[in-house]
Amino acid sequence: MKETATVEDIELDLFLEALHRRYHYDFRAYSRGSLFRRAELACERLHCDSLSALQDKVLHHPEILPDVIDCMTVQVSEMFRDPAYFAAMRQHVIPHLRTFPSLKVWVAGCSEGEEVYSLAILFREEGLFDRTMFYATEINRRALVRAEAGIYPIERMADFTANHQKTGARNSLADHYTAAYGGAVIDRSLRSRIVFAEHSLATDQVFSEMHLISCRNVLIYFDQNLQDRSFCLFQDALVRGGFLGLGAHETLRFSAHAGAFTPFRETERIWRRSAGQRKEGTDAA
Ligand SMILES: C[S@@+](CC[C@H](N)C(=O)[O-])C[C@H]1O[C@@H](n2cnc3c(N)ncnc32)[C@H](O)[C@@H]1O
Repeated sequence: MKETATVEDIELDLFLEALHRRYHYDFRAYSRGSLFRRAELACERLHCDSLSALQDKVLHHPEILPDVIDCMTVQVSEMFRDPAYFAAMRQHVIPHLRTFPSLKVWVAGCSEGEEVYSLAILFREEGLFDRTMFYATEINRRALVRAEAGIYPIERMADFTANHQKTGARNSLADHYTAAYGGAVIDRSLRSRIVFAEHSLATDQVFSEMHLISCRNVLIYFDQNLQDRSFCLFQDALVRGGFLGLGAHETLRFSAHAGAFTPFRETERIWRRSAGQRKEGTDAA
């Protein structure tokens, strides 16, 4: 006998279809378990008894869309999160990047900016900041606005400082922000070399050639097909020998694109774009 879909499955599919067709937010290839949890949270916060009710509400009241997107995405982040990753960047990746006269770094899924500011600070400490452009992309517009503002609650700075120290920093994190407006305001000159933009790994294309891509704690929310789509973008965007950093629970190992990369620092989840597999005329190295 043919299995019938549950009401919850049908409601989730229709809700995701509505978000996509009306607002171009495409969550259809996110991992199912996480989607159910996020959608349940959205129903709770927006006082809807079911996903059908939430679908009706978001279609007829576009002003609630940012609240829905807040629920559907996870904004947990910190500066120098997983310090060992940044320590490996400092010790092992930076020496290779030094050989390029100019650099482009893409932080995909930048949340409220913690990761891109961490990299910008690290690059400044290592003397590479002035020759680097950073691209920080994100689907959640509210998060992007906060990222661009670069102001964090002062209470968070103690943890950020402890993380920073563990990356082998010789100076203080306080050199890169000032306390004002009840928060820590990231040094304006750091922001001057960062382009913040809306970009979805689910629907958008490559926009420039990169030497380092850091996409951490984003792909865990995607199914294998969408992870593969993302890896394909990264493969196309990276110069030969360029670096790809993932989150602690993410891997390229099961991807159809694994062959285009070689493990560089397995423990810290850093790969390198293999030589010789890039399309003609797209190599900047
Ligand atoms: C848990 S945060 C990770 C932030 C940061 N990279 C880190 O590791 O601390 C995941 C981010 O990915 C963003 N995101 C989710 N789907 C995305 C997509 N399709 N394209 C780009 N960013 C996405 C979310 O909005 C969220 O800001």
